[in-house]
Amino acid sequence: MDNFKRLLRYLRPYRFRVAFAVMLMFVVTLSAIPMPLMQKQVIDVAIPKKDRDMLWLIFWGVIGLYLVRGLVSYTLNYLIGWLGQRVIFDLRFQSYRHLQRLSLAYYDGRQPGKIMARLTNDIDVIQYALTQGFVNFITDVATVFMVIGWLLYLEWRLALLALAILPLYVVNYKLLLSRIREVSVELQERRDKMIATLTEKVSAIAVVKAFVREKHETDYFMETVARNFELGMVQTKLNRFLGATSQFIRMLGTGGLLWYGGSLVMGQNLKPGELLAFYGYLNYLYDPAVRLVDFNVQVQWALAAVDRVFETLDTRPEIIDAPDAVHLPTVRGEVEFRNVTFGYDAEQPVIHDVSFRVNPGEIIAIVGPSGAGKTTIVNLLARFYDANEGQVLVDGHDVRKVRLETMRRHIGMVAQETILFSVSLRENIRYGKKSARDEQIIAAAQSADLHDFIMSLPDQYDTKIGEDGIKLSGGQKQRMAIARALLADPRILILDDATSALDSHTEANVQAALADLMKGRTSFVIAHRLSTIMNADRIIVMNEGRITDFGTHTELVNRPGVYHDLYQEQFKTVGDLSEEERVRLLSAAA
Ligand SMILES: Nc1ncnc2c1ncn2[C@@H]1O[C@H](COP(=O)(O)OP(=O)(O)OP(=O)(O)O)[C@@H](O)[C@H]1O
Ligand SMILES: [Mg+2]
Repeated sequence: MDNFKRLLRYLRPYRFRVAFAVMLMFVVTLSAIPMPLMQKQVIDVAIPKKDRDMLWLIFWGVIGLYLVRGLVSYTLNYLIGWLGQRVIFDLRFQSYRHLQRLSLAYYDGRQPGKIMARLTNDIDVIQYALTQGFVNFITDVATVFMVIGWLLYLEWRLALLALAILPLYVVNYKLLLSRIREVSVELQERRDKMIATLTEKVSAIAVVKAFVREKHETDYFMETVARNFELGMVQTKLNRFLGATSQFIRMLGTGGLLWYGGSLVMGQNLKPGELLAFYGYLNYLYDPAVRLVDFNVQVQWALAAVDRVFETLDTRPEIIDAPDAVHLPTVRGEVEFRNVTFGYDAEQPVIHDVSFRVNPGEIIAIVGPSGAGKTTIVNLLARFYDANEGQVLVDGHDVRKVRLETMRRHIGMVAQETILFSVSLRENIRYGKKSARDEQIIAAAQSADLHDFIMSLPDQYDTKIGEDGIKLSGGQKQRMAIARALLADPRILILDDATSALDSHTEANVQAALADLMKGRTSFVIAHRLSTIMNADRIIVMNEGRITDFGTHTELVNRPGVYHDLYQEQFKTVGDLSEEERVRLLSAAA
């Protein structure tokens, strides 16, 4: 319920509209009163007196009443629709903005589909409760109270009879409530799971097909939706049962009224028209009463959704600016790790007591077996995660004490997995720097050995990627990512296996261009190929989360250790290298 109050707070900026809407609701409610009275007038006054003028008056009265009512409820629904959409807009916008702020650790622990479900499904459920549900709730509560008062005034004995059955509604509802809630919550969870499965499996369709798992995946999905079907049916049954029993209770009331009211008319204690009017008001009593019960069911749904949406909004980003964070307009590019220990799960460190210092402009290669912690090192430098112990320093500033945004602007990264967006090639490269001019984009593409390829496409730089555009090869994607990072013109460049998908010829081209660009920038190059590694000034050798060696190629190759072995291994395959590389390699070895 606290969360529901919090949701209502989203209406606060629009309180005048809300107030106006509530006023209109009362007009709609009040407009319920005249109709049965007019019926009564026809039966009790106009017909006995044969008063045709009065019939005409009532005719125009009914038309007028419905015109006004129609107009008011149109305005009301428009207003409420607007309010609902607006709150949803705010909520979605806020959630998305918050998701952008949350740290990688948040995403590590969640399926993307489940995160999406918050912003789509859940918010839709809330919208329904907030708009239609909310209007119904207010008008119904108002109507019920107004009609009760009015009935008591008209004929209190009949009114008490009509009211006597209302508690039955409540009891009936309470009996079913907990089951209804349980089912709603489970159903929503199932839906989330379904979306999560869909997003994951649809984007991995190639893997599914490669391993001929289509049938298995279909069966698995079938299981999920079969359970949804079951639950959906349980929910339908519960709702219908609630509906049917409510109808039955209502009929008890109606039957009782006809019987007792009829006998009052026979005893001349009530006029026929009054009985008719009474009967008319009964709809205004029971319909809202049933709807209120139903509204409660919707609220159960909405509350579960509200809880989940706020859960996301309440997750605090782990990586945030310290209050005293400094702004670093420029950096030289000195990087130091001081006794850094880190684990994605703090209990299980994957980086142990790592220390090293890199001078501005140095090119550093990081080598080591898979899982050694190379990517983790650069993740810490980019401050995707914070160290558990020790410090990461740039130009002597602890990265935790530097404003995140300015810090990251100095770092350009080509990540191990290349991600491009479904926009044009130009826009994909421009992602590195929004203000880049076309010449700069072309220059970046040239450095990444992409320009000729792009120019050979019919739409050149305007060629779209994805859905209705081209699909790029792994190596082309990597070069796109390199161009993007280069465009950002960072002081610190991180290339995480950035050339792994390139053939040796293309790699040599890219390397040559990169070598130029790396000049004057501190660069971290994670690579497995010796030819790439040898371009570095110094090499960090990692194993099992520790730095086992650090030095120049010549130093390392002459010491026994991981690097020496790696060198020996690749040296054997030197026959596969290009002429140029072979010369370089042999001269370095000499
Ligand atoms: N997001 C993550 N959450 C939890 N553990 C992770 C995460 N990323 C990596 N790890 C773990 O951290 C360890 C180091 O991983 P890291 O990615 O740094 O290795 P790497 O040296 O880059 O390997 P590779 O050469 O295969 O890319 C591994 O044991 C891995 O299981
Ligand atoms: Mg890695």
